[in-house]
Amino acid sequence: MYLHPNLICKNLLGVINLEKLVIQGGTPLRGEVNISGAKNAAVAILPATLLINGTCRIENLPNISDVKLYCDILEQLGAKIKWHSSNEITIDTTNINCKEDIVEITRKFRASYYLIGSLLGRCGEVQVGLPGGCNLGARPIDLHIKGFEALGATTNITQGNIRATADHLVGTSIYLDIASVGATINIMLASVLAEGTTIIDNAAKEPHIVDVANFLNTMGANIRGAGTDIIKIHGVKELKGNTSYSIVPDQIEAGTFMLAAISSRGDIIVKNCITKHLESIIAKIIEIGGHVDANGDKLRVWCNKRPTKATIKTLPYPGFPTDLQPQMGVVLSTAEGTSIINEGIWESRFQYTAELNKMGAHITAQGKSAFFEGVDKLVGAPVYVTDLRAGAALIIAGISAEGITEVYNLEHIDRGYENIEEKFRKLGAKIERTIE
Ligand code: EPZ
Repeated sequence: MYLHPNLICKNLLGVINLEKLVIQGGTPLRGEVNISGAKNAAVAILPATLLINGTCRIENLPNISDVKLYCDILEQLGAKIKWHSSNEITIDTTNINCKEDIVEITRKFRASYYLIGSLLGRCGEVQVGLPGGCNLGARPIDLHIKGFEALGATTNITQGNIRATADHLVGTSIYLDIASVGATINIMLASVLAEGTTIIDNAAKEPHIVDVANFLNTMGANIRGAGTDIIKIHGVKELKGNTSYSIVPDQIEAGTFMLAAISSRGDIIVKNCITKHLESIIAKIIEIGGHVDANGDKLRVWCNKRPTKATIKTLPYPGFPTDLQPQMGVVLSTAEGTSIINEGIWESRFQYTAELNKMGAHITAQGKSAFFEGVDKLVGAPVYVTDLRAGAALIIAGISAEGITEVYNLEHIDRGYENIEEKFRKLGAKIERTIE
């Protein structure tokens, strides 16, 4: 059997993974889908529990591999985790071993950088493996480091690890050159227990930033202004916990299903979502000829004709999210006319376009721009996932295409989407996971 080089990849446990999704395309999606808790909130709230001297219950936790890996790290650090269901846990972080070596396990995924902020706050010292660049291009953490050092920490990077120490963290004003999601959350985590007030200027405003702040405030922190570009964190002596918190619905998962409905010319109801978080996506869907009808926490999304071309630039929230750019790219690949997408966040987020071209799309990607010359239809082909959102996009492409699409490298998708094929199957898609 010939193995495409991308196929010979290892999952998080180091096991060679030959799973694939087989999709028989051409069925317009119909029915209802329930949105899970937000991945990017969950991977920040789990390390935030390390700041609590006690227990907390977390509800609406997405059942995804990034969450499982984070729970493994917390347990390695000495936290006790009780699973009430696959979406609900109680974490007891009373006894944490600050000296535990977590370098190897933290190197496995990017969001482990939140342990720097939370363990600095809890222990005054931390060493984690630095996640390398990834399929989206370079992903520096200089702004995180600038924030920690402004709070009084010392940081050293050696042999691919970052070590940060601080006898005492003291609040200060920090201006972020870029409204970075990760730096905003990490500085918030480090300053919750610091002395005095920390002000983050030019903070990111994504819904998961507000969610992390709400979680910390529920546990006893004093954070004001999350969701605006100035966040003030008044340091408190301790976080007591002993309460529960429900994670916000995943804006990106909701947008993924909305765009799948448009791409497949379907008619679906997206349940358990926050319409306010989806405004930029709703506006674009309407602009290209789709329909959206909001009713409380439900959105009906449908499209009965070929969409029209659009020009899109991805931007920090409340702009059009980079994490929905590939899914929108699939929609535009069969729109009437030539569309343009400018990627405003990541330097390399068009790798999926080469896979779409294998399915008959006409896309030219150059640097941070891509031109989508709309074709009548996509045709099924074997395709290889390069990152999480590219994976969602290729599934949407397979569902919308004529014939059979095989999607490989599923571990990227499992990192961030709960039961994705089951959710699509309930909407009528013909999709199965198999092992070669
Ligand atoms: C978060 O990544 C998300 N990840 C990403 O989700 C998302 O694409 C991104 O925000 C933008 O919305 C998590 O929340 C775990 P940034 P993050 O710091 O925090 C530059 C997904 O598919 N930058 O806001 O790493 C950076 O290079 C993903 O779910 C610096 O230069 O993103 C980028 O160009 C992938 N120095 C821009 O800022 C820094 O110190 C925004 O990055 C930090 C960032």
